[in-house]
Amino acid sequence: MFAALTEHGVSGRAIRSGLCGLRFWDPRDFTLDGYRTVDDRPFGGGPGMVMLAEPLDLALTAAKTALRRKGVERPRLISLSPQGRRLDQSLVEDLGRAEGLVLLAGRYEGIDERLFQRHPMEEVSIGDYVLSGGELPAMVLLDALIRRLPGALGHAGSANEDSFADGLLDCPHYTRPEQYLGLGVPPELMTGNHAGVARWRRKQALGRTWQRRPDLLDRRRLSREDEDLLDAFREETRRDAVGSEESGPD
Ligand code: ADE
Repeated sequence: MFAALTEHGVSGRAIRSGLCGLRFWDPRDFTLDGYRTVDDRPFGGGPGMVMLAEPLDLALTAAKTALRRKGVERPRLISLSPQGRRLDQSLVEDLGRAEGLVLLAGRYEGIDERLFQRHPMEEVSIGDYVLSGGELPAMVLLDALIRRLPGALGHAGSANEDSFADGLLDCPHYTRPEQYLGLGVPPELMTGNHAGVARWRRKQALGRTWQRRPDLLDRRRLSREDEDLLDAFREETRRDAVGSEESGPD
């Protein structure tokens, strides 16, 4: 499953070039029976299967030991689960500061709770919906972590300009041709005036966030300059709306 991460794009390149190390531990390799059993029926009855504590316990211990040999004494242990703290960019930044991470991707209906008594862990969810396993969420988290490593993106600074890098959504982007089926490019981007371009982008980022994710603005204080840019955006949006009303429906 993880080939999507390790063999493609930004994450694949970063892993191949050694910007980060990634190692996989299959709980089936830590089973003690001939069938390589990793799950069993839940005590108390009910549908689905529960992952056994023992193979995961041994796999986690092996992962921790391997990290310790590399000098990582205190990795953060993360279990991917819909019960966890919701992932956002600030959690990505926080996890990115860890000296090492061990991610646990569960399957089946759940994991024997005693595993978490033996290995206290943080739980992380990628959103309020249920997937059939933690592998995709682990890849989501890894991709978000890897792309912010210095040198992972082709262009230095790209990660700083992403959506959420500054708690705002990203501005719109344009490339050639200058005219596409009668649609032009905002003139502010065509002037060659770097400060003007930066101001336009900031205004669009603020405006989009205000339009689409006002909750993100509620959580932060805007500088005086940002307030002015957002006011200008609102005024332009209002004028555009009035303009299109006056010209009537087409
Ligand atoms: N495992 C299953 N669903 C998940 C989710 N939404 N986030 C993290 N891990 C999960």
